[in-house]
Amino acid sequence: MTHIRKAVFPVAGMGTRFLPATKTIPKEMLPLVDRPLIQYAVDEARAAGIEEFIFVTAAGKGALEDYFDTAAALEQRLTANGKTSALAALEGTRMAEGALSFVRQNNPLGLGHAVRLAKRLIGNEPFAVLLPDDVIRGPQGALSQMVAAHASHRGHMVATMDVPRAATSSYGILDVDQTKGRLALARGVVEKPRPENAPSTNAIVGRYILEPSIFDRLANIGPGAGGELQLTDAISADLKSVGVTGYRFEGERFDCGSVQGFVQATVAFALDRTDLHGELSGFLDGRTKPMACAA
Ligand code: G1P
Repeated sequence: MTHIRKAVFPVAGMGTRFLPATKTIPKEMLPLVDRPLIQYAVDEARAAGIEEFIFVTAAGKGALEDYFDTAAALEQRLTANGKTSALAALEGTRMAEGALSFVRQNNPLGLGHAVRLAKRLIGNEPFAVLLPDDVIRGPQGALSQMVAAHASHRGHMVATMDVPRAATSSYGILDVDQTKGRLALARGVVEKPRPENAPSTNAIVGRYILEPSIFDRLANIGPGAGGELQLTDAISADLKSVGVTGYRFEGERFDCGSVQGFVQATVAFALDRTDLHGELSGFLDGRTKPMACAA
């Protein structure tokens, strides 16, 4: 079984849907309950065995570097004051020395461009890509599920879920040849097709395991949907030689690139917490009762 050791996190986006909050902080630092968005993706990657973390970043994203750095003064103060649970909360922010790299995306040319910039750091081995906007809640991390499946289904693998047909123009969509359990062998992938042109409603969610041949394809694609260099187009170009499998992960995906999705994720993750559940569910019940009709 090939060990998937490296993961790319495209985090260069401006997060305009979250203005004004994202005027001075990266979108990936917005907290879902009390952990920033990026922490969810990093934790999922760690659980799947990832050891090297490559952030494709941009101007204004410095807080992400600081977040995964040691905070010596803070830790000393917490230790001196015996604040053990606060110290434990910092555990996930610690990175092994040399495990985190940053590549700068100077031009926002699209997801395909962002992934292409990681080429030198990835080298010649299969690797993962996690889009931190897609937060997945479930019993086991989506990437862990995919790593296990990839051991016997080599080639490119993308996480998938079924979406309403009206929503296909927001996703990469698979043209499915055959399905077997959670796996779908694709004969095509297309980025953001209109509902009437979509080959299926089987949509790509932001988790990928890619073979290194993707970099040759990424070097040769032109602008696609939205005028951007699309990762989906590079995967499509590699389909005949490498193969593409969709993996229908077990779990619930939240689109935290939208305010609606972010708020829903906040509620779902808060309800999972034993220290928050009781009071919060009472609060929500009170708010969501059908409104009484005016006499
Ligand atoms: C990206 C990918 C798309 C995928 C989606 C999942 O699109 O290009 O194929 O379905 O992420 O979230 P974006 O949402 O960045 O436009």
